Amino acid sequence: MYQFWKKKTGKEIKDIVFNALEENVNYEKQNILGIPASYLDDKIFNQDNSFLQDAPFISTLIQNPNHIGCHTLGKSEPFFKGTHDIERELINICAVDILKGKKGEQDGYLASGGTEANIQAIWIYRNYFMQEMNARQDEICVLCSEDSHYSMDKAGNLLTLSVKKVPLIDDSRKLSETELDVILAQAQAEGKKYCIVVANMMTTMFGSVDCVDTYVNALKKHNLSYKIHVDGAFGGFYYPFTDQDSRLTFENKEINSFTLDAHKMAQAPYGTGIFIIRKGFMSFANTKEASYVEGEDFTLIGSRSGANAIAVWMILMKNGPFGWQEKIFILQKRTEWMCEQLKELNFDFYRHEKSNIITIRSQFVTEGIAHKFGLVPDNHKQPNWYKIVIMDHVTIEKLLLLLEDLRK
Ligand SMILES: Cc1ncc(COP(=O)(O)O)c(C=O)c1O
Repeated sequence: MYQFWKKKTGKEIKDIVFNALEENVNYEKQNILGIPASYLDDKIFNQDNSFLQDAPFISTLIQNPNHIGCHTLGKSEPFFKGTHDIERELINICAVDILKGKKGEQDGYLASGGTEANIQAIWIYRNYFMQEMNARQDEICVLCSEDSHYSMDKAGNLLTLSVKKVPLIDDSRKLSETELDVILAQAQAEGKKYCIVVANMMTTMFGSVDCVDTYVNALKKHNLSYKIHVDGAFGGFYYPFTDQDSRLTFENKEINSFTLDAHKMAQAPYGTGIFIIRKGFMSFANTKEASYVEGEDFTLIGSRSGANAIAVWMILMKNGPFGWQEKIFILQKRTEWMCEQLKELNFDFYRHEKSNIITIRSQFVTEGIAHKFGLVPDNHKQPNWYKIVIMDHVTIEKLLLLLEDLRK
């Protein structure tokens, strides 16, 4: 059932990573004279073998492989072949085993984060519409919801595209079909013909999930061309495990690409955004002028640390797919438990039933409590909501302390 994702022991993981590092160039042992990079500064970073021999991730950091470019298509820099192979396997795990794509039918890379992965998607589709459909820049817009992450605004600003935000129904956080209709009619009146849709797989503030069919039906009704990207920066390592019947997978032909962030729910170090797209589209972000990079550069970021791919791969392999399901199952149970407590207190809150975010209306939470427990508001100047995110460290014992204060 899982094609790439197989649980491994610590020893197996260590052996695979060290073997991969052997296949990369070694700045210390080999005469590598032309790369503008080296191992990490040994005056600061301990390179003592007795310290590193059981530490595959730190060893990778110290050897400092560069994963510039995209390694699922064409050629890549041969210097870091070993760790590129691991990144490729990681992309396959995400594309095939988590997002139900067919083997060999997606490309992807590790971006700096969700922001970059979302911008990469919008960049690709803008160029796709302009190059393939002869669209004018002002005929293209980004379509997302009012709860979408602000990276869509960054993308709109950078790529000079207007961003249309669909209002949501306050209690359910669902897309308002009537408002969507109005927005599309307005966009058409402004001359828009092409929409880059970003659908949410768990929003930042509410953990809510957009219904892609609502977008598709409205876009078809208005006869607009579109491409759909799913922002799973928060939900990518969560929602596919709580909703077995999810429409947000590559099995849904309407969806073309995904963002997933390992540095959120997967507890990986920062710098582990993941961008995955159906084959045939990465080339719209190719920078042919990247002539000194073997295989050119299809990504927004340029140089990036190979240690990031190793970290995420190690996390997924150590847990294994069933360990991951159990981890998410526990978080779901804790979230359900917390919701029950809040219901008993008659608090008004939002929670998507497949999510681990609980968002409480601000009148039930004093500023002091929010501050004490690090509850994040939707808006620091004028909070309407505060959220609790049930992560690994957010245990029932800690939630009990919050409940004690909320009861007062
Ligand atoms: C839904 C969503 N998309 C995108 C992002 C941006 O991710 P990053 O901060 O990794 O750039 C976030 C961050 O919270 C997010 O929640």
